[in-house]
Amino acid sequence: MQPDTCYPLTTDSLVDTFGRRIDYLRVSVTDRCDLRCTYCMPKGFNGFEEPANWLSHAEMHRLVSLFVCLGVGKIRLTGGEPLLRHGIAELAGAIAATPGVRDLSLSSNGTQLARHARALYTAGVQRLNISLDSLDADCMARVTGRDCLADVLAGLRAAKAAGFAPIKLNMVVQRGVNDHELHRMVQFAVAEGYVLRLIEPMPMGETGREAVGIDLNRLGQQLAHTYGLIPEIKGQGAGPARYWRTSDSSMSLGIITPMSQHFCASCNRVRLTVDGTLYLCLGQEFQVPLGAMLRDGADDIALLDAIRAGIAAKPERHEFTEQPAKIVRFMSQTGG
Ligand code: GTP
Ligand code: 5AD
Ligand code: SF4
Repeated sequence: MQPDTCYPLTTDSLVDTFGRRIDYLRVSVTDRCDLRCTYCMPKGFNGFEEPANWLSHAEMHRLVSLFVCLGVGKIRLTGGEPLLRHGIAELAGAIAATPGVRDLSLSSNGTQLARHARALYTAGVQRLNISLDSLDADCMARVTGRDCLADVLAGLRAAKAAGFAPIKLNMVVQRGVNDHELHRMVQFAVAEGYVLRLIEPMPMGETGREAVGIDLNRLGQQLAHTYGLIPEIKGQGAGPARYWRTSDSSMSLGIITPMSQHFCASCNRVRLTVDGTLYLCLGQEFQVPLGAMLRDGADDIALLDAIRAGIAAKPERHEFTEQPAKIVRFMSQTGG
């Protein structure tokens, strides 16, 4: 569904008060997941029903189209686990076909990817980021709550066979849990042609606060030295990761360091949850209830104005270090 009205496309319409151009929307299509990663999901979470305030695909597509009218060209589908949402490939196809969308990507835990990879690729999803915290089946089961390593590896193989490139692996590094596996993960990524990204856990919700990370800034430099990598000036995408690579680009390693060195000054993104709530920052609670407005009959002009007002109020940065208990919502709600 396309919006009835569209403001003229401009190249600088979503610039916040700190001069940051917002051109990236991350859409969480469900807060459900078939895994229970210790740092992500609320403990005891057990949702099955689809709450009435969840947006339909048509409603999501309408909101996405309005962001696109305002110059947002990059869309990422997230969850929870987005492949649990029925008809995800159709939704992806509708978004990919929206004029103005130039980059459609998806973040997944990989467990269901083997049966979805081809349909997603055909629908127009261009890039995949897959969570993989360990190559040890027992460790994976401890972190995710389920014996899922074989399924995730099968999903990765299917994604490669379907044609996805690059495929990025997201590894949340936890002290004493999986930090002994770094070299094994690097070597696996090189051998299989994946881009490995190491992530510091953020204190989102009580599960996020319980995760103990390490300073990846320092560790990344050590790994770069060990593997003879040089810093990439302009990394793979305009995301939060900083990359190193070999001189022939056969290997690329990224680090995401929200705790030891935050990247908020170059933030280009906002997030929409499954009920249509617009979150302006991962580390702040400020939000705009676009979904509720839409359900109350707001027209496109009112929704566009609300998006603009939200962007104008986008917080400067997170305060994970200064106020670790501030964010009560869990990462599974906004999908990273
Ligand atoms: P691309 O550059 O489009 O590939 O995306 P990305 O690098 O943002 O990757 P992805 O969506 O896989 O995000 C990886 C992880 O980075 C997330 O799971 C979060 O842990 C972290 N992250 C992503 N965006 C933000 C952000 O805006 N702020 C903070 N603090 N962390 C983020
Ligand atoms: N801190 C950092 N990253 C997290 N993710 C989930 N919870 C956290 C957290 N507390 C990441 C996972 C996954 C993505 C969807 O979110 O690594 O790749
Ligand atoms: Fe699910 Fe991803 Fe959260 Fe793990 S990190 S519980 S895979 S949403």
